[in-house]
Amino acid sequence: MSKSTVEPFALVIFGAGGDLSTGKLMPAMLELDRQGWLPDDCRIIATTRRDLSTEDFATQVLSGIGDDKDRAKFAPRVACLTGCDPAKDASALKKLLATMPYQRRVYYAATPPQQFAGIAASLASAELIADDSPLVLEKPLGTDLSSYRAINEAVATHIPEHLIYRIDHYLGKETVQNLLCIRFGNLIFESVWNRAYIDQVQITVAEAVGVANRAGYYDASGAIRDMVQNHLAQLLCLTAMEPPRSYDADSVRDEKLKVLQSLRPLEPADVVRGQYQAGLIGGEKVASYREDVGDPNSERESFVALKAQIENWRWAGVPFYLRTGKRMPAKSSYIIVAFKKTPHMIFPGADPANNHIVIRLQPNEGIELLVNNKLPGPGPIRLDPKILNLDLLPDGGKLPDAYERLLLDALRLNPTLYMRHDEVEQSWKWLEGVLPDPPAPEMYAAGTWGPDQAQLLLAKDGRRWDNHS
Ligand code: BG6
Repeated sequence: MSKSTVEPFALVIFGAGGDLSTGKLMPAMLELDRQGWLPDDCRIIATTRRDLSTEDFATQVLSGIGDDKDRAKFAPRVACLTGCDPAKDASALKKLLATMPYQRRVYYAATPPQQFAGIAASLASAELIADDSPLVLEKPLGTDLSSYRAINEAVATHIPEHLIYRIDHYLGKETVQNLLCIRFGNLIFESVWNRAYIDQVQITVAEAVGVANRAGYYDASGAIRDMVQNHLAQLLCLTAMEPPRSYDADSVRDEKLKVLQSLRPLEPADVVRGQYQAGLIGGEKVASYREDVGDPNSERESFVALKAQIENWRWAGVPFYLRTGKRMPAKSSYIIVAFKKTPHMIFPGADPANNHIVIRLQPNEGIELLVNNKLPGPGPIRLDPKILNLDLLPDGGKLPDAYERLLLDALRLNPTLYMRHDEVEQSWKWLEGVLPDPPAPEMYAAGTWGPDQAQLLLAKDGRRWDNHS
């Protein structure tokens, strides 16, 4: 798409003083501006409920943009609205927008979800929603199926589905989109991408960080709600989905939905929960989860491993093992597609490794293919597994941040990488059986790959986790 096709717009960010806006949205907008994606004619309207002077608020809004020069250059693009609670009354916003010539308005609710319904209602009653004004909603979208439905219904009363953009920032990651490119931009994978050839799939999203400054939110959610319901479920969908008819929003989302609908509802025996204790990460001592959240009795999981099963023709019998956690050895996210054994070995005594593909999502973005080769020498034939490695960032370069892509898509009204209502609903349905009355988590030392039970989950099936860091 040519850069000039983004129409002049006003992007209204609710909750613009928060970490998401200062740490992700504003830097992403600056980067888009730098790269020439933004039209000359556009404005970011940063709002807050707090009674601050607009000068103080502007300083806060721009605080995530590291460089003085960049801040000064970007500041004229930003208009601040303080002491305004758009969840109750959008008239001040309406007045401000009336002073600007932009017809295209994009709204971003970087607020707690309790405010989503109010924001939608007051935007609608102030007649600020046109057919090209999407409202972007950040997670958490509920804490279970019924709370998600309540949020959705309240928003959908005022805003039509095609204008509700539910963000999952993993879909904005370059390597996650590359998963679709690998699968559907090449001929060679499709014929082996099924139960006849694939033994298992593992999806790992490991983080070295703890709960950081989000203890309150995290301790009320835990790893299943925070990561599995959205990011890991989406990675599973992209790995398992059928080829969509085309790369448009509904074709892609229809195929993801079918995967979610085919998931066998999780049962407690499919899931292992863990919680980190004090330990060492990169040689540094770190505190336990309970110390981090300030609750010596918390039983919230900071780690989860689970076995997902997709009940359809392509995947019947192929387990998808998913795990994610805080305070694991390193930040490392990857998908491993492990193939079955060769059906017959013609080299006596040779013991080939199973082929596998590793899709490294972050860091060291790239793809590996394990292939057996001849070990050189005149003796009996021996096989030697070697890795064909494709580095997507060979010179230590940097990929664009997910929010750059997703914000730009919202500005040009492309919801392909946003989640549709039925997808979110279906992934909550998949988890329904394991959210209430969770068992106490197993403990794991910070800096390890999770509790022993997570190893047993796979050992029961005669498999083990493949750890990459
Ligand atoms: C967020 C979660 O959605 O994703 C965080 O709320 C998590 O707990 C983060 O740390 C991970 O994102 P990324 O892009 O750093 O892998």
